[in-house]
Amino acid sequence: MTTKTGQEASQTGTGSLGVSMIGIGACVPDTVITNADLSKLVDTSDEWIVTRTGIRERRVASGDQSVADLAIEAARDALACADMAGEEIELIIVASSTPDTIYPAVSCQVQHAIGATRAAGFDMALACTGFVYGVVIAQQFLKTGMCKTALVIGADIHSRFTDWNDRNTCILFGDGAGACVMKAEPGPDNLLASDLHLDGSKGMELTLFTQVANCPLVPARSDANPYVYMNGREVFKFAVGTVPHSIESTLSRAGLTIDQIDHLVLHQANIRIMQAMSEKLNIPEERLIINLDKYGNTSAASIPIALNEAVREGRIKPGELLTMCGFGAGLAWATAVLRWTCVDHRPALVSEEQVQASQPV
Ligand code: UT7
Repeated sequence: MTTKTGQEASQTGTGSLGVSMIGIGACVPDTVITNADLSKLVDTSDEWIVTRTGIRERRVASGDQSVADLAIEAARDALACADMAGEEIELIIVASSTPDTIYPAVSCQVQHAIGATRAAGFDMALACTGFVYGVVIAQQFLKTGMCKTALVIGADIHSRFTDWNDRNTCILFGDGAGACVMKAEPGPDNLLASDLHLDGSKGMELTLFTQVANCPLVPARSDANPYVYMNGREVFKFAVGTVPHSIESTLSRAGLTIDQIDHLVLHQANIRIMQAMSEKLNIPEERLIINLDKYGNTSAASIPIALNEAVREGRIKPGELLTMCGFGAGLAWATAVLRWTCVDHRPALVSEEQVQASQPV
């Protein structure tokens, strides 16, 4: 990708470019781990997990399945939704905090697999906030005319970094990937407003270290932990106390009020967090997109997986207004308000009932 000078950008009229999300897709591993399965590993119960988190089951990647594998499948699904070929993609951003390799970047592996021969790209690690950050970053590239199309992916395999003996964390996470295709075209912007934040002062409340001990000549740091550590109560308080302000201020900058929002797509961390936020924001719970009961907290993938499922089920329709909000480790949080303009080109999903009805009796 070649950077456009300000003069080139104004000659091509890129000042009036509008950005839209035109495709959405997802991929989750096949293996399902239920709460009953977990109660064989740690001292917990289906009742505790459902009441405290809303999670009933989650997906876990097999040993030979990589973050890139999930990201590639999600990307292909989003491209099919947008009816686009990989070679049309000019920018690939992958949000992942659990890549199989630090390098090559996951974005390079996706670029190769989908045949995006003209694309630039990079990975970013911002845990559960990564997807919304990625969408807003892609919007900046698209609005300046630096590229016309972008693929933003959130993909994580937390099961490899979970202490399966720690009941505080092993019940929460699931593996998966979600992706969206974005496009710049002359006309109005359908990404109406956004808001990005960091608060590193509370970073140690939710941590995942990379390898910290290697050289035999120096001691490893004493607080290193190879697994996810989370101070659940602190993160819960932050999510409910701080994040709704970001949603309110983003809506206000978009010239909208909460009652105009058709769907609120929050990071799927805990049903109680989502309910507390909906109460605080005064938005009816029916307008929340919730699917963490089936997938748990899939970190950077949770918002696009939820969005994709709601689109597939026909719950989200073109013309509706959405607010996406991610929050978590960093601490970081991000909100984006958008008008949904995506027309799904994938064949309709066939339900279990339809399959059974079509069987000969
Ligand atoms: O994606 C990044 C963002 N992450 C989040 O937003 C997560 C935010 N935090 C949470 O969702 C909640 O804090 C948790 C679900 C992690 C924990 O729920 P909680 O209601 O805050 O429980 P707690 O940590 O205060 O623990 C209450 C009790 C404790 O026992 P005592 O000390 O009261 O005897 C825990 O040991 O529940 C116990 N406990 C469990 N019991 C059965 C903790 N985990 C479990 C478990 N099963 N899995």
